[in-house]
Amino acid sequence: MSSDKKINDPSADNEVVKVKKISPPQLVRGMHDILPAEWPWWNFVMSEVTDLALVYGFQRLETPALEKTSLFTRAIGAATDVVEKEMYSFVDQSGDHLSLRPEYTAGLARAYIEHGLHTWPQPVKIFSLGPLWRHERPQAGRYRQFWQLDFEILGEASATADCQLILAAVALFESLHLPITVQINSVGCSVCRPAYKQALQDYYRTKRSVLCEDCKRRLTKNPLRLLDCKIEEDRELAKQAPQLVDYLCEPCNAHFVKLLEYLDEVELVYQLNPYLVRGLDYYTRTVFEVWGADEGKSALAAGGRYDNLIAELGGQPTPAIGFAGGLERIVAELKTRQVGIPLPSSPDIFLACLGDTARKKAIKLFEDLRRRGIKTAESFTKEGLKSQLEIANRLQVKFTLVIGQKELSDGTIIVRDMENGIQEIVDFNKVVEEVQKRLVAREADTLA
Ligand code: HAM
Repeated sequence: MSSDKKINDPSADNEVVKVKKISPPQLVRGMHDILPAEWPWWNFVMSEVTDLALVYGFQRLETPALEKTSLFTRAIGAATDVVEKEMYSFVDQSGDHLSLRPEYTAGLARAYIEHGLHTWPQPVKIFSLGPLWRHERPQAGRYRQFWQLDFEILGEASATADCQLILAAVALFESLHLPITVQINSVGCSVCRPAYKQALQDYYRTKRSVLCEDCKRRLTKNPLRLLDCKIEEDRELAKQAPQLVDYLCEPCNAHFVKLLEYLDEVELVYQLNPYLVRGLDYYTRTVFEVWGADEGKSALAAGGRYDNLIAELGGQPTPAIGFAGGLERIVAELKTRQVGIPLPSSPDIFLACLGDTARKKAIKLFEDLRRRGIKTAESFTKEGLKSQLEIANRLQVKFTLVIGQKELSDGTIIVRDMENGIQEIVDFNKVVEEVQKRLVAREADTLA
């Protein structure tokens, strides 16, 4: 909102000048800034993700934020919430229908086909880390721009891949020191799912009048989603509904049993959740979700197998499985659980100066120290020594170097030991070596 204000401007011959009061810009609803204080948490998660990727042999692949809208419609399913209601879609200047990616898997499947990744040794293990967009109703843990870490194993049909991927997900949360529970189900395949959908529709049709409006639509459009409606009455109904595991065809059943055997072998504790169906249409067989220990409102990570997706998009038949975790939710969980995270290490040296000539020397010295790998802080724009030393104290540096008028004319510099306050005068030309010597000695003292 902006309002016009009339003021008298003496320089304008007493003419009345209109000054526009500009309202400051605001975040788009559902989006958030990641301020510097947040980054220790974000960096912790990101570095654990990249470490884990290395250990399990995943290579990074990043796709663009924009893809053709048809990719998501085909991959995720036209009747899903994500495609029906949540995509940021537009027509660009060339008339192309584009969407901001609402998830990674579809774009990665496109990249797999487009770059001929089927010719690489299989399976291809890739991971991605970046922002995504969904026009959802904003609430705690649900944003319109959010970040995901995403891991995919492409080109492997056996339950070994399912087991390894689930173990990688569990290992990630272990390395983040977050207690979790894993829920698993099988959603079958195109052979066994139609009979199950029919059974579900038969069960729900008699109860149609008591279903919520969304579920009434799901009944014809996407019956599996009836099972994960969040409304209490509908959840009660779901408890009596036929279960997918009872309808699995022999190969799907064998796959599921094998996976559970593998997980039992490694003594992974998991929960079988017959109502877990997931909101994206490409899933076949295994689906799973990772929840925080107190099973808050929403999953920290989720995924599953998508054996038909790449063929449906026009690629070679390529079985695949993957999962994605939400960074905002993981960071929130780290804070709730008060997990200790590594803080950025403080600088060793603070460089203070008095006056403009000293500042010039200090700027040059800062570069010399940096080139030697000595972590140095400064506040060159501050004039007074007192305010500079206050910063040095706050940063808990080991030594402060001071260049004042006297030191300038003597060609020296003060080295102040911040632990005991002892100051020494050092030849300016030798200060880098002198500082290095002192830091090595201090390190040895701390280790002794
Ligand atoms: P998804 O369940 O839609 O799956 O999202 C995975 C995770 O992303 C969720 O568990 C949650 O942590 C986070 N997330 C989703 N939406 C939001 C949101 N609006 N705000 C904050 N966090 C959110 C997928 O996206 C699949 N592509 C996962 C996958 C990979 N399946 C196979 N491969």
